[in-house]
Amino acid sequence: MEADIGALKPGEMMTVEWRGKPVWILRRTDEMLASLKKTDGEVADPKSDVPFTMQTPDYCKNETRSRAEHKDLLVVVGICSHLGCSPSGPFAAGSNPQLGTDPGFLCPCHGSTFDLAGRVFKNKPAPQNLDVPPYQFLTDTKIVIGKDEKGEA
Ligand code: FES
Repeated sequence: MEADIGALKPGEMMTVEWRGKPVWILRRTDEMLASLKKTDGEVADPKSDVPFTMQTPDYCKNETRSRAEHKDLLVVVGICSHLGCSPSGPFAAGSNPQLGTDPGFLCPCHGSTFDLAGRVFKNKPAPQNLDVPPYQFLTDTKIVIGKDEKGEA
């Protein structure tokens, strides 16, 4: 599944469908990326060691959960690891009481919250971070989801 991200501005998110699942593509601003330094200490699994339905690709096992050469881009499956609802967001810092002073996503079903890297905050019903599917850049403005250097997922 190819996605054209050329028109995606910093702070904007688009949703595409991959294997019947919604995949969010969020181009994070510098401020959004900076928020991850703080939330690193507030999330349950900062290094994404515990998989939900798929292993986090090695190149995304980092604080931003993104490829090193395109840190701004977050690619995650928008399905909550608790009972499968679709979280809403992204919410800006301070705009949602359940997220407090952090920006992030909120699952409306039972209140799990996720940071802007899709990592679940501590003590929430959702046990794992949102899935990061394999993906790679075809050009600076085009990515393919479900496929990377290791082949097709
Ligand atoms: S399904 Fe998301 S918190 Fe329960």
